[in-house]
Amino acid sequence: MAGYTDSPFRQLIKEIAPPVICITELISADGLSYGSKKTIEMLRFKEAERPHILQLFGKHIDHFKEAVKIAEDMGFDGVDINMGCPAKKVVGSMHGSALIKTPELAFEIVETCRANTKLPVSVKTRLGWSDDSTLLDFAKGLENAGAQMITVHGRTTSQAFLGKADWEPIYRLKETLKIPVTGNGDIISGNDAKNKIKNLDGVMVGRGTFGNPWLMGEVCAALGIIDEKDIKKKPEDFESLKKFMIHHCELNIEMLGKKKGMLDIRKHFASYIKGLPNAAKLRAKLVTVESVDEVKGILEIELRS
Ligand SMILES: Cc1cc2nc3c(=O)[nH]c(=O)nc-3n(C[C@H](O)[C@H](O)[C@H](O)COP(=O)(O)O)c2cc1C
Repeated sequence: MAGYTDSPFRQLIKEIAPPVICITELISADGLSYGSKKTIEMLRFKEAERPHILQLFGKHIDHFKEAVKIAEDMGFDGVDINMGCPAKKVVGSMHGSALIKTPELAFEIVETCRANTKLPVSVKTRLGWSDDSTLLDFAKGLENAGAQMITVHGRTTSQAFLGKADWEPIYRLKETLKIPVTGNGDIISGNDAKNKIKNLDGVMVGRGTFGNPWLMGEVCAALGIIDEKDIKKKPEDFESLKKFMIHHCELNIEMLGKKKGMLDIRKHFASYIKGLPNAAKLRAKLVTVESVDEVKGILEIELRS
């Protein structure tokens, strides 16, 4: 998820729930093929994140050709193609979810990626543009083009993030495809994952992890992938939460550098403290932090007050 699933956050998720497969934020195939320094920097990762999948977005066949080769050289374990992002600036330039409206191009992108890398190639998409009437043909076309897994977010592009995710069309799709099908949308507890997986091969979890990476442990335990005793649980006391927040902050600085690391950690802090009795006061201080010592100071005072 753009702005969230960077290397530090992925590392935390893997510490909590090792079997989880993490995917990068959506990365521009154009930027990668042009050798953009900023794009390459965003792609640093640690061995502990494996299996580690690169998510690409774009519309230029030649750039995908280059990008999958770079992904292979950089040591990624797989490539996922974003055909689901509804953001105006992404769709407006005919990227992301807009590929639902240009299925032939979408299929050609998958074929090109498959032809130019040994890495597994998957696709993330939505139910359709404004309804789910195209889902089956679109997904079948992706499968025929060589996609090796498909993840469907149970909303249309028009819905963006409104309403409830509808998983029924995803269950029907699974009946027809030969490749693995993963469902996505509105999982915020282990029980949600257990109830929603039904005939599917997996679930993908997004926003539920904001401020709650421990959700991934819960999900793994609920699906029987990890023993309950082996997962790291959400801290029950402020001292443990504080340690975790400082750990996240230090990882951010290590992987992203001090300036970006401190800037990016602020939104995570706001999510971690949600629901605490003094959250508003604490948030006001944490959203301007510029160093790990400052964070420690603020959290220490909080512990004593
Ligand atoms: C801030 C934000 C950034 C996102 N970035 C991406 C992205 O880069 N790639 C992607 O496939 N989906 C992205 N998504 C969509 C999520 O992966 C997911 O499909 C959607 O939020 C529904 O699942 P959830 O209810 O578990 O969050 C993003 C969602 C949000 C809220």
